[in-house]
Order: sequence, then C-alpha cells, then structure tokens
Amino acid sequence: MAKHALHTKLCDILGIEYPVVLAGMGGVSRHKLVAAVSEAGGLGIVGAATMGPEELREEIRKVRELTDKPFGVDILLPTMGATPQASGSGAGGGGEGGIPRNWRDMLPAPQREFAASLRRKFDLPDVEPDFPTASGRLEGTPFGPGFSRSQIDTILEEKVPVFASGLGNPEPYVEEFRAAGVKVIALVGNVKNARRVADGGTDVVVAQGAEAGGHTGRVGTMALVPQVVDAVAPKPVLAAGGIGDGRGLAAALCLGAVGVWVGTAFLVSKEAAWDDVLKQRILDASEEDTRVTRIYSGKTMRNIKNPLIEAWEESGVPTLSFPFQAAVIRDVTFAAEKAGRKELGMNPAGQISGMFNEQRPAKDILAEIVEQAAEIIQRLPADVPAVTS
Ligand SMILES: Cc1cc2nc3c(=O)[nH]c(=O)nc-3n(C[C@H](O)[C@H](O)[C@H](O)COP(=O)(O)O)c2cc1C
Repeated sequence: MAKHALHTKLCDILGIEYPVVLAGMGGVSRHKLVAAVSEAGGLGIVGAATMGPEELREEIRKVRELTDKPFGVDILLPTMGATPQASGSGAGGGGEGGIPRNWRDMLPAPQREFAASLRRKFDLPDVEPDFPTASGRLEGTPFGPGFSRSQIDTILEEKVPVFASGLGNPEPYVEEFRAAGVKVIALVGNVKNARRVADGGTDVVVAQGAEAGGHTGRVGTMALVPQVVDAVAPKPVLAAGGIGDGRGLAAALCLGAVGVWVGTAFLVSKEAAWDDVLKQRILDASEEDTRVTRIYSGKTMRNIKNPLIEAWEESGVPTLSFPFQAAVIRDVTFAAEKAGRKELGMNPAGQISGMFNEQRPAKDILAEIVEQAAEIIQRLPADVPAVTS
C-alpha cells in the first residue's frame, strides 16, 4: 500500500505519525494491542480502568518491551457516590471518598432479589461471585480513597508520555503531569464537560458521541464534535463514537477535529484482549444490535444487546449508582460465565459494529483508516468542486 502523509496538529503534540488514537478500553486495550497501534504510527492507550498500581506497572513495561513509540494510559477518575442510590435519584456524584467497607450490606433488597430472580429465569447455577468485579475491585475499596492516586503515581514513575481520563476531570493532576512532560487527554460527552476539562488544563479533548461503545452520553458524534471544537478552541479535539474507517476520519477532520479516538474497530482486532465468543457477537451484529443500559455499571453503557439486558430494562427495577450496580449484576454474570453463557455478560460495542465482519491485525485496520481518509481528502476537490462566482 502506498504511504500517504496525513499529518495534523495532534501528530506534533503526541509525537505520532498518524492522527489515530486507540481508545483506552478497559480489559481490551492491553499491551499487544497498544503496542501494535503505536508501532503502526498511531497512539496506543492502555485501558487501565480497574488495574491496581502493580498490575499497571507490569502492563506498561510489557508495552515497552514491544515498542519504543509513544503510548498512553487511560483510567477512570472517581465520579461515584458513597451510597448505592437508584438511578434517577439525582445522586451519584462524589469524589475520592469512595466506597464504604460494608458496601455489600448496603445493596438494597429489590435489586438483589431481582438479580436472584434473573439467575432462576436463565437457569444459572447458584455460585458466589469472585471479586474483583468486571467493572471495579470493590473489595479492599480500590475504587475508593487513593486508588486513582496510586494509578497516577505509577504513570508518573514509569514516565508514560500520555495520560487519558475516561471519566471525570483531570484538573487536580494537570500541574503534576505538565511538570513531568506528560500530555493530558480527557473524554467528554457534552459541551459543558468539554469546557470544564479544557479550563482545567487538559491538552486534548475527546468529544465522544452517543453511538460509541462503552459508557456513553446522549449527543451524537456529528452534532457534538463541531460544538465541542467551537467551545474549547483553540484546544485540539478528537472525534470519537462511530468511527470505523477512513470515511469516519475524513469526516472528523471536516468537523474540525484533529484526529480520531477509535474503540470498536480495534476491539475486533486480532490483538484485542477480548473473549473470542464476545468478539464474534460484535462481528455478527448489525448497526441495530446495540442497547444503552445501566445494568452492568450503573452508568449508561452501549452494549451488544442480550436477553439479560432486555429482562432488566423491561422489569422497570431501577438500577443502582456506579459501581454498586456492578456488584448486584455480578452475581448474575458470574453465574452465567460458569454456565458457559458468555453472551449474557457485558459486551460493550458501538453502533459501528455492523461494519466489521472479521478479526484483522490492528496495523491493517489503522493503515486502512489512514489510506482511505487521505484518498478521500485528495479526491474531494475533484469530486465536489467548490463553485466560485
Ligand atoms: C469494550 C469497551 C471498553 C471501554 N472501556 C473504556 C474505558 O475503560 N475507559 C474509557 O475512557 N473509555 C472506554 N470505552 C469507550 C472508548 O474509550 C471510546 O470512547 C469508544 O469506544 C469510541 O466509540 P467507538 O466504539 O464507536 O469507536 C470503552 C469502549 C468499549 C467498546
């Protein structure tokens, strides 16, 4: 394939060749995928959401064994409350105060009983779940006081060049990162939060549209990106949500973004650390096969649809706040795993899922995105001549 130059301001800021960033997907964006994307000229980002400091240190060192190119680490800064309020109660904010030690006793009866009824409905075994949970180690309160501080210390000690926050505002840490020469990226789903993280000193803002896989907001990418670009100008913005090929990258550049933050397209890559059964469900999915649900974490998350999501949504039982809902549903998903019913588990993926049919190497996915975008941009003046009068 002929090599195209597709250089934006992002490439200078991050020291990369192409303006394509691997989304820091927790449990998915691990060393092999991160290194593959960075080696191919993009920026790989480790999804370290639930990784404690030592696991994270090991992961960073494994990336360095595979590449000497820049890469980053993504964590979730605390935004959870200290009690498990039902969704819609207006609660859920909070800080590093985190989870009380008796959190398991605090899970309300209606949700626990409904989860037990789901186990019976799906004929799942009666097994005690292990912890850590899928979305956070609640035992020992690692999502509580000091957890993100310990992750950040590791990032600084290991001299990782880029920090990304997938939830929350990195402002309290920006000075430290700046002093250490670490670039800061923050993910947002609306203009208000874009302004907040930009004012807080974030170097690059990711505008993530509602079609994205994983935790997602309410505003579509096409509407969100230009509004965020205008709100935080001249700060650089990345477009995220529904970007699967070079058409998506070219469109993002037209909307004023300086690059793209790509999740689902790399989630189905060969190197992604994700279960093959779950990857196949994504590859089999159409653009209509995802649902936004709070069932797995307590926050709105786009997943491949399954009967467990449907049963909870139809029941009308309110979900709990993050991350208590994860503890309630873990009783069901752990039993489902034991019974070989992986399809009932969390499988975050975006509406772009319908575009992918096979697992491919990450470097091919990245090369195709860049090549196609460059071709479109070169061809555009001939295809769509601007008329001057
Ligand atoms: C499996 C999966 C896990 C994710 N985990 C995280 C995470 O831990 N931190 C984060 O910032 N974003 C996470 N996201 C969201 C991505 O960062 C990204 O915004 C999203 O995938 C972009 O939309 P797309 O999937 O349409 O490309 C996750 C997305 C998926 C699909």
